[in-house]
Amino acid sequence: MSTLFRKKSIDEMLMQSRKKELKRSLGLLDLIFLGVGCVIGTGIFVVTGVVAAQSAGPAIILSFILAGIACALAAFCYAEFSSAVPISGSVYTYTYATLGEIFAFLIGWDLMLEYVLAISAVATGWSAYFQSLIEGFGIKIPAILSSAPGSGHGGAVNLPAILIILLITALVSRGVKESTRFNNIMVLVKLAVILAFIVAGAGYVKPDNWTPFMPFGFSGVVTSAATVFFAYIGFDVIATASEEVKRPQRDMPIGIIASLAICTILYIGVSLVLTGMIPYTKLNVADPVAFALKFVGQDRLAGIISVGAVAGITTVLLALIYAQVRLSYAMSRDGLLPKVLGRVHPTYKTPFVNTWITGIIAAFIAGFVDLTTLAHLVNMGTLAAFSLISISIIVLRKKYPDLKPSFSVPFVPVLPAISALICIYLSLSLPKVTWISFLIWLAFGTIVYFIYARKHSHLSSPRQ
Ligand code: ALA
Repeated sequence: MSTLFRKKSIDEMLMQSRKKELKRSLGLLDLIFLGVGCVIGTGIFVVTGVVAAQSAGPAIILSFILAGIACALAAFCYAEFSSAVPISGSVYTYTYATLGEIFAFLIGWDLMLEYVLAISAVATGWSAYFQSLIEGFGIKIPAILSSAPGSGHGGAVNLPAILIILLITALVSRGVKESTRFNNIMVLVKLAVILAFIVAGAGYVKPDNWTPFMPFGFSGVVTSAATVFFAYIGFDVIATASEEVKRPQRDMPIGIIASLAICTILYIGVSLVLTGMIPYTKLNVADPVAFALKFVGQDRLAGIISVGAVAGITTVLLALIYAQVRLSYAMSRDGLLPKVLGRVHPTYKTPFVNTWITGIIAAFIAGFVDLTTLAHLVNMGTLAAFSLISISIIVLRKKYPDLKPSFSVPFVPVLPAISALICIYLSLSLPKVTWISFLIWLAFGTIVYFIYARKHSHLSSPRQ
């Protein structure tokens, strides 16, 4: 029984990470760019429209604020962990050190679901803007090949989404790294198109469009918060980079919190302008930001925004594929998943097979499942991870009172407890089918833990 809760020692992990020291080259600005690069994507460019039309109306800004608060509280916990334990692996590693192996395995299992589905969901958004872009040149992909069944657009398969995932997988599997410079340029492009939308769109805002403000009531705001939560996903990727940061103790917490703040402000700006430009009922389209501009006759700017969205969403995809591969690689290295996932390609020096398994599964899902269903499941997984990390902070403080992180969550245990409660509250407004799918996935994970991971764990036969 006690082996279920066996833990990795923080001191040992710190020692190991010092042994195989990665180059510490990232500064604060790089971290903020990394965060913003991973966060801003399909959420703001696509999900905003669907949610405004179906469950929030103009009050979607309240949903963004509510989801932002939940993320900020979780971000505090991430920040303390990542400054106290600057080891890559994020929540999976933190949980291994605090709550024990079975929780670590299940959270890793949960995050794998989150990342794979997030790759699929983000690719769906990419596909929408790619199609909007090429339509500007008179090229139209037949409806049957342009979206997943069930998305209401008459599609049978989302071919562009499949192809972009396979393309990025090919790059990542051959070791093409998203260099910091490339990422920084892409982030600037993304910020520029979003600001351009806010500034240009503001001129077309008709305040009448903001009434009724809350057509679906406050419960609609909460349900929508659980969906737009998707737009914030990705800031945890900063935590996975901690071994490569020059001054992790100082820069990790500032980096995480600053990128979240920037995204929240931009999201509020975009949703205000979007719902002010066009009646919310019309926003249920695959490319709402470009659509709103076309609606007011700004076709050229709509084209530019689509180019920016396609470029910007590509970097999110790249980052998510990395995150997924790093996580399953770390779990395999610890013996919790089969060795094949930790095998490194002799020439490319990447977890080649692991990357392709990830890419093929994500591509398949992206082809056949619609964005909203995917986003709900991704959010469910993330909210579970956030609740767990909040609880882990309380455990960390108790178990390691001598750790002196540069950033400490204030008001422990009250604030982490509130954080966990808000996450649980939001997850309760996700659809039943999301809950059922999630619980089936966890049950499956528990079986894998007992028949495989527990026996193969390196903690049961230490080999370092
Ligand atoms: N937050 C990421 C996006 O919106 C997943 O695309």
